Amino acid sequence: MVIKKVNLDIVIGVTSAIPQTELPEVAFAGKSNVGKSSLINALMNRKSYARTSSQPGKTQTINYYNINDAMFLVDLPGYGYANANQQVKAKWGKMVEKYLKVSKQLRHDPSANDKMMYDWIVANGYHPVIIATKLDKLKRSQIPKHVKAVRTGLGLEKDDILIPVSSQTKQGIPELWET
Ligand code: GTP
Ligand code: MG
Repeated sequence: MVIKKVNLDIVIGVTSAIPQTELPEVAFAGKSNVGKSSLINALMNRKSYARTSSQPGKTQTINYYNINDAMFLVDLPGYGYANANQQVKAKWGKMVEKYLKVSKQLRHDPSANDKMMYDWIVANGYHPVIIATKLDKLKRSQIPKHVKAVRTGLGLEKDDILIPVSSQTKQGIPELWET
């Protein structure tokens, strides 16, 4: 994908309604701090347009990045952020669930939350693409073992696509755009 133009068009907070947009949406769901916002930056060829942090819980709104007026990459708040208080956690969870339910444009070692997210996505008729982030942290020789562990842990179907990526080294970014 040649990135000609990116723009943060829409930001949705806990009290906002989910918009019905005119473009396909690809949303990134996953545990807090796993590197969703960094990955969106890597896909957009931007250093820090999407805000990232070494502290979990950075993304607290649903952010719609317009790519070339062709699609949205949707950055979701992460789940499983231990330090957020229960009320805050519940609000984020509700907001993300609302997005996943309402958006008509969404095409779409694993934790219990990851498994729950995967099962929910499948049960609701979406086709997930599973992205294993921070690939640079693994030695080459460890990669097949980890990929297998993710496939087994989530209980992936044979035709479910899993792409290991690194936002730092850009490994897997072309394959992800291809998909
Ligand atoms: P929330 O917004 O809390 O859900 O987090 P997030 O999933 O958006 O994570 P974010 O992109 O903010 O990154 C979290 C931390 O992981 C940051 O310190 C990043 O620098 C680091 N990180 C992200 N991608 C990579 C990667 O590919 N490799 C390595 N080594 N670190 C990464
Ligand atoms: Mg984030």
